[in-house]
Amino acid sequence: MQTPPFLDIGIDGIGFYVPQERLRLADLAHARGVDPAKYIDGLMLEEFAVPDYGEDAVSMALMASNRALLKSGIDPHSIDCVLVGTESAAYAVKSIAAILSGMLGISEHAFTGDLTHACASATCSIINAIGLISAGLIKRALVIGTDVSKYPIGSAGEPTQGAGAIALIISRNPRIARFSANFGKISGHVNDFFRPNGQDTAIVYGHYSIDAYLSFQQHAYDDLSRQIGPIDPNYWIFHSPYAKLPVQFFRQLMLRRKINDSHNTGNGSESLGSSFPSADQVQILKGKGEISCPDIQLLKNLDWNDFEICDLHHTIQQELRERLLPSLFVSRHFGNMYSASVWSQVMWVLENYARDGDVFYFGSYGSGATAISGLLQVQPNFRSIIDRPPIMLDSVRTREYLTVKSYEEHHENNCLILPKITLGRISTLPTEPVVTKNIGIQGISLSFCDAGCVLPHNKDLSYCPQGHFGRFNRFFPQSAKITHLRKTDFIDPLLEIAHNGEVPILGIPPVGSVVELNFRKLRQDENKLLQWAPVYCPVPSELVTEQDYLVEKIVLECASTLHRNA
Ligand code: CAA
Repeated sequence: MQTPPFLDIGIDGIGFYVPQERLRLADLAHARGVDPAKYIDGLMLEEFAVPDYGEDAVSMALMASNRALLKSGIDPHSIDCVLVGTESAAYAVKSIAAILSGMLGISEHAFTGDLTHACASATCSIINAIGLISAGLIKRALVIGTDVSKYPIGSAGEPTQGAGAIALIISRNPRIARFSANFGKISGHVNDFFRPNGQDTAIVYGHYSIDAYLSFQQHAYDDLSRQIGPIDPNYWIFHSPYAKLPVQFFRQLMLRRKINDSHNTGNGSESLGSSFPSADQVQILKGKGEISCPDIQLLKNLDWNDFEICDLHHTIQQELRERLLPSLFVSRHFGNMYSASVWSQVMWVLENYARDGDVFYFGSYGSGATAISGLLQVQPNFRSIIDRPPIMLDSVRTREYLTVKSYEEHHENNCLILPKITLGRISTLPTEPVVTKNIGIQGISLSFCDAGCVLPHNKDLSYCPQGHFGRFNRFFPQSAKITHLRKTDFIDPLLEIAHNGEVPILGIPPVGSVVELNFRKLRQDENKLLQWAPVYCPVPSELVTEQDYLVEKIVLECASTLHRNA
């Protein structure tokens, strides 16, 4: 591949958050009377993330952003734009970006706004950020993709749920990766997937949505390759509503590329001929390998012989293993995170596979529909930021499995008050020194009225619009130790924060244990005003060992699941 032009604008910081609770798809399959192989091999999924009570697009975005700031060492006051891509808005009118900028201490003089375009909304936000930086209107943007993917219980979409958030800091002189100067794009009015106002689960024409995805991804690829010529990245990263769909698209893409190449230059592949065991060849030529029966027929009509077709199968299989599969770990374990999906995959590949100078292709798809493609080039020394804690692997190690009954309760019950909340006093612990070096953010500061409503930092608006009195500031450290714990039956944690300096703590961890800052939606009043506030979560014990993870990684790379289900 000729080196395409890259911008001096890209990813300078990145942070990820996924809920700790997961549902195993094997358990869901048993409960729904479905063959588990349909979910595990047919959709290539293992488990998905289930948001906790009060955990939503805002709380996850706060966590991912906080982590991006911590990992990159960037001062929140230096950020002059916050753009949130989401299809899980908290309010019909009021942006998540405004909530984040206030709670994270972003510069008061920042552009803020939310952008919707289903799963492509974070990518659309990134394109906006690049444009604003290029035009000299802003210096540094915090872009977030945050979503809860939710379908009705028992529906075909149910196994493809998930939740998570990704935050990217976009600026000039990026330390992690730069964007290409060209992007592929395609848009149209397509009714494949939508969520009407007032409904909390999506409606989807499943198989039509697959066709829309395959077609739009192809057009976005074609549009980019028309602009920059041949594309041959080290890693291919496509939006992954479930891991099998990018595999299906990749097979289609590789096949079309090879047919085009052979049309222009002759087949050119060196036939391995009789070096294949013939039983293998028979299976491949029956359409049980990477090339389907109709495509085998198409190749034969184009005068490809059996050996050439088998060669092509092996080429596609190798490309799949080496260049596509690494990114698919994310949707296999966290599920569909909508706007956060493709960028979380980018982060996973950066953390676990990438080397200086590698080029990633990304193909972002948003139902309704649009697709955007582009390239990223990994910067020298990107590891000095990417490897700082917390890393995505931590989210794999600390999962907790729900029963199907408990998952269904979470699904149906949008509780605000955490059923298992305790109140406690904490003492600040120093945050990991490697993280806090030169950063200065070891926690967040919030202002409250006496009734516990979060107030803006803006000096002119220091009173509560609900007519409550008082104003006081509280600092919430990233990391703390519990010094005192009090159990109560019914509590309003925000009132408690206001009145006696206690903080909400998740569960009943023993006094002396270490807790971490997290966020939850804790209140909705009669005017439907929502309040998010800090909640402390015990630092999870390692539930998954490094060994388990490595086994999983190897299994994925060997990818027995790649073989078609005959
Ligand atoms: N063993 C092994 N494999 C099996 C099997 C078994 N016992 N039973 C079925 N399978 C295979 C099928 O052959 C099929 O594989 P192929 O696609 O390779 O043919 C796969 O399992 C799925 O089976 P079905 O097509 O019968 O599954 P379904 O009709 O119940 O639903 C779905 C599949 C349409 C994807 C559904 O899960 C859905 O609606 N999901 C939500 C929508 C979605 O994700 N759409 C994707 C594009 S839209 C997008 O990308 C935006 C977004 O994020 C939503």
